Amino acid sequence: MAFDLTLSRDHELIRDSVRAFAEEVIRPRAAEIDRTREFPVDNWRRCAEMNLTGMMVPEEHGGAGLDGVSYSIAIEEISRACATTGVILSVNNSLFCMPLLRYGSDAQKKTYLVPHARGEKIGAYCLTEAGCGSDAAALQTRAVRKGDRYLLTGNKVFVTSGEAAHTFLVYATIDPALKHKGICAFLVERGFPGVGLGKPERKMGITASGSVEVVLQGAEVPAANLLGAEGDGFKIAMATLDGGRIGIASQALGIGRAALEEAIAYSRDRQAFGQPIASFQAIQWKLADMATEIDAARLLTWRAAWLKDRGGRVSLYTSMAKLYASEACMRAAKEAMQIHGGYGYINDYTVERLFRDARITEIYEGTSEIQRLVIAKEILKGAEG
Ligand code: CAA
Repeated sequence: MAFDLTLSRDHELIRDSVRAFAEEVIRPRAAEIDRTREFPVDNWRRCAEMNLTGMMVPEEHGGAGLDGVSYSIAIEEISRACATTGVILSVNNSLFCMPLLRYGSDAQKKTYLVPHARGEKIGAYCLTEAGCGSDAAALQTRAVRKGDRYLLTGNKVFVTSGEAAHTFLVYATIDPALKHKGICAFLVERGFPGVGLGKPERKMGITASGSVEVVLQGAEVPAANLLGAEGDGFKIAMATLDGGRIGIASQALGIGRAALEEAIAYSRDRQAFGQPIASFQAIQWKLADMATEIDAARLLTWRAAWLKDRGGRVSLYTSMAKLYASEACMRAAKEAMQIHGGYGYINDYTVERLFRDARITEIYEGTSEIQRLVIAKEILKGAEG
């Protein structure tokens, strides 16, 4: 498929302004957020002021009206400074606002899309359950229609931003025997009767992203909060993840780039055998591989974003981008740590956090194994790579 990745003047302006904002506001707090594990509400507010909470939502619905490449650029820049803030933004943008924009009724857009796109409220996405992650169609959370409402019962796990979220996009089934055709998507407010939170998860990386279990005990959801039609939920979930995976690929780019920059700075400075270690080929080859892979990942990610803006199914491209960017990011973080030697293993050094943050990009929004499965399915169907 033909595509054009020439950056416009607007793209460059977005890159420069988000980079400056991230360096001035987001980066100085990243280590502290990692240490305290406190959901960075202040970062969220500052990002909202910068119009980063509903980037691809049209202005009439409270967003910034930008394209997917701008979104990718912004998530990369924020994640380069703080991967926790990057994923919180990515979830609200890609996994909450975009399905609302695409499938929401006018009333749902007014009530939910506008405040979430403006960043007055935080959105979360509830698909995964304790017994099903990769096999999303096997979810067991039940939705039972009672008059003008649905009662939702089940538990959702690892819900990013769950601790702070105002609204959850919850996937539940009206009949597990219908498999994916029984799944529905619901807009569930945190304050609805029967909605509770479990214990916060203590994680290896992105420690402050507010991951928590969402407990639904006959949660009362107005029928008007069904997103799309009954049975549309699985396709909404999958199409939404096609966009989400661009966000995670962009987060991986940011973490990987930060790792490369740390490695370059350290290898110029660190002396061994009477010279900076950057003068050794063993180090230069690592840096060259990191830079090349990050650049290749960026091109895949921008291609996916560019194609997604033009409509149609883009699973092949978003899965390729997410797979390659996350694995390139992990390799970059590992090599950056290796270049730092023992210092890289010490909490005080940024590469130690980057290494921990990188790991999740290969797992959430579909593991690398699931991305390979999607890619293989698409190319065997005859989709173009
Ligand atoms: N867009 C639109 N429709 C899609 C689609 C897509 N991307 N993918 C599948 N579908 C449709 C298919 O066309 C099919 O439709 P029909 O019924 O009309 O034939 C239907 O959905 C079922 O498709 P499959 O048979 O391919 O479904 P499957 O059960 O084999 O599952 C899967 C496919 C790729 C494995 C999927 O379950 C998957 O992506 N799993 C990973 C789940 C995941 O990524 N979870 C992330 C949780 S969110 C998160 O991580 C957020 C966070 O914390 C930051």
